Amino acid sequence: MIHPEWRPAFHAAPAQGWLNDPNGLCFFKGSYHAFYQYTRDWPASNLRSWGHAVSEDLLAWRELPAALDPSIPEDRTGVYSGCAWISPEGRMNLYYTGNVIYEGGYDRIHEGREANGILVVSEDGLVFSEKRVLLRNADYPGTCTLHVRDPKVWEHDGSLWMVLGAREQGDRGQALVFRSDDGISWKHHRTIRSREPFGYMWECPNVGVLAGREFIALCPQGLPSEELRRHNHWHAGYVVLDGRVIDTDTLDETRFREWDFGWDFYAPQIFTDERGRTILIGWMGTFDKGRTSAPDGLPWCHCLTLARELALADDGGILQRPVCELESKRGAALALDGTRVLADHLADIELVGMDAAGALVLDGSLAISFEGDLLSVSFSHPDVGAGRVSRTVKLPAPARDARVVIDRSCVEIYLDGGETVFSTRWFPVAGELSVALSVPCTRATVWPLEA
Ligand code: FRU
Repeated sequence: MIHPEWRPAFHAAPAQGWLNDPNGLCFFKGSYHAFYQYTRDWPASNLRSWGHAVSEDLLAWRELPAALDPSIPEDRTGVYSGCAWISPEGRMNLYYTGNVIYEGGYDRIHEGREANGILVVSEDGLVFSEKRVLLRNADYPGTCTLHVRDPKVWEHDGSLWMVLGAREQGDRGQALVFRSDDGISWKHHRTIRSREPFGYMWECPNVGVLAGREFIALCPQGLPSEELRRHNHWHAGYVVLDGRVIDTDTLDETRFREWDFGWDFYAPQIFTDERGRTILIGWMGTFDKGRTSAPDGLPWCHCLTLARELALADDGGILQRPVCELESKRGAALALDGTRVLADHLADIELVGMDAAGALVLDGSLAISFEGDLLSVSFSHPDVGAGRVSRTVKLPAPARDARVVIDRSCVEIYLDGGETVFSTRWFPVAGELSVALSVPCTRATVWPLEA
């Protein structure tokens, strides 16, 4: 049975069709733009376009017509992921990968595939120029297979820089750095490799700066899962660097940290807004088999995460917290002592000073449990979890503080100021939200959120 109330209020999702990676995130002429990998005719098709949503507050997203569809030979089997770079003249430049898969018996790694670097320009963020092909496979280093994609462009010291994810011959992930003076003509500058092999392909590389420290985000495919971390099929994380991305040849993969330990997180993108905040939005979904984020009959599949503001932690990690705009949606605070019932599945919960084992249980069916330095998230019934059952994650230390945001079918858990984050979809059937707490804490509060 489909519940209209599964549609989130603060997480961007298309009315119809499939969504994956966020693309082209930016603040442009007064609005936030979130493009995303989009297949309108899902599940019949998997041809990717760029869907498009805009927002004034990073919370209420208005869906616009798809911005970019496959339309030229160089992107005929998919307008793949990419970024926005706003020029000093105030133009929105969208760089993306035109995916081309050849018919026939190719392995599509060494033959039978193209990855084209394409530029589209917009004056207003609504009307997009002709497509201009800037890079083809022959422009990438000869050490690469045909898997090269997901450009991220930024400006630094008067030059433009682009980082691309790639799969090297011999199946090692790497990132390519290109340089340009004009945003049109690009030259290979260097290749970033890990010390030891670290997955066979790095998707969606991104860069950012926090308190003067640069970091690189990447999504390695092919890392083995472990008992208490790296559970998903593919992983999304970051490495805070000692120097600059553009000077880096070797990445210390032992410093790789996962952004989010939940079932539903991949391919985040990072941008800086007009207030100077570094903001991350991820894909709140998964390609993992058996985790159906669209129960039968739901016409849309997956959404983006909440917008999260990033900050550098004292230990060199990165903290994430929902942008402060969310707090303006809070209704009257209710002390959480035992069980509370709210009219809708919209809530912001804060637990402060947790000092023993216990659980926060939503609707009697989703348990968020703490014991020592372990966090467990479990569903009582597979239908509520849509294929998810239970997962346990090791924390750096026993959690002291937790924030849990429930936006209908989305749950995001932030521990200890956003040091550890866990995102999952769920599909509750009750009309009301019940919240039951058995963790001893110094303060526990729940705010109903107003859509
Ligand atoms: C990551 C990814 C990207 C690619 C896009 C295609 O989820 O595989 O590498 O550009 O999705 O939809």
